[in-house]
Amino acid sequence: MLAESRAQPFLHRYSIRPRGKTQHPSTSLSLAARGTNVMQEPPSGREEAVPGRPAPRGEQLRPTRLRRDRAAPLAAASPRPEMPLFSVPKEVAVGTAMLGVAFATGMLAGKRYPSLLFGTSKPHKSIIGKSSPLWQYILDHSLREHPILKKLRLLTAEYPWGKMMVSCDQAQLMANLIKLIKAKKVIEVGVLTGYNALSMALALPDNGRVIACDINEDYAKIGKPLWKEAGVDHKIDLRIKPATQTLDELLAGGEAETFDFAFIDADKESYNEYYEKCLRLIKKGGIIAIDNVLRGGMVLKPRKDDLATQSIHHLNEKLVRDARVNISMIPMGDGVTLVFKL
Ligand SMILES: C[S@@+](CC[C@H](N)C(=O)[O-])C[C@H]1O[C@@H](n2cnc3c(N)ncnc32)[C@H](O)[C@@H]1O
Repeated sequence: MLAESRAQPFLHRYSIRPRGKTQHPSTSLSLAARGTNVMQEPPSGREEAVPGRPAPRGEQLRPTRLRRDRAAPLAAASPRPEMPLFSVPKEVAVGTAMLGVAFATGMLAGKRYPSLLFGTSKPHKSIIGKSSPLWQYILDHSLREHPILKKLRLLTAEYPWGKMMVSCDQAQLMANLIKLIKAKKVIEVGVLTGYNALSMALALPDNGRVIACDINEDYAKIGKPLWKEAGVDHKIDLRIKPATQTLDELLAGGEAETFDFAFIDADKESYNEYYEKCLRLIKKGGIIAIDNVLRGGMVLKPRKDDLATQSIHHLNEKLVRDARVNISMIPMGDGVTLVFKL
């Protein structure tokens, strides 16, 4: 045991921090259902119906057939006009109608804007829920996270936009691929604080290079001190400008077919462009990893106004037929497609 942990100095247990618990939608659903049941439950001490008096409260909520059976002999003995099939107080009718409208509105809004129900403005980065015991099990039995990577992950997660960060098990898979193919030059399209850039830099040899593309330096400023602390900042070449421009510059500079690996994880609408440029930049046998290919399941039925999901879906459709490459689509994180250039 001791020997094992010595052999793997960076082996750290991942723990899910109980940050701002989100109520599961089923909780609110079951509460709503319970509310309805309470309204429909018959009262415990039942009063008898008396002719000429409004029916007792519990009776008013009873179903039609029962009400008719009981009312029939009374109706025969009384000159009163026949009672309506349902006799429901106005407040109950209005309340029930309002509940119905609220429920229907909730269903519609939930379908159209799932983020309203699930509390996130972005489709989630994880196929297996991050609070699932299975997710914890996967991490407990596979994650070997460098202590400074862990520090960067926890730091990034402090920010509201931290959920954009790559999934740590996925970053580890990419680092393993980089080691497997003995990569030296890699590209990252979309860096944020650089969790994956740092993970790749740690996997590269000392003369390796990560071309890290982002349009916003503010995120990277948060990660940079940790890149330095890990002793690999010299391997990360951060280029702050639109990624298409950086990729074009690399191509124009004669670097086509010189890269070993690329990770695409920026604005989804430009994914096809990033893919085509990266495909030119990597060598035969090189790998491109494309993130968010499942878009939290939204690829199953992309909405017309969701250009990001439409773009990913079109790329997925193209990749499955692309004879230039072999691919594997993996349900890890928010879905990642590994593209192997032939
Ligand atoms: C999902 S985050 C990247 C996460 C990162 N790969 C990681 O390891 O955690 C997306 C990043 O793409 C950047 N981005 C968005 N549009 C871009 C563009 N046109 N060119 C370059 N970067 C862009 C954003 O600033 C953001 O930092």
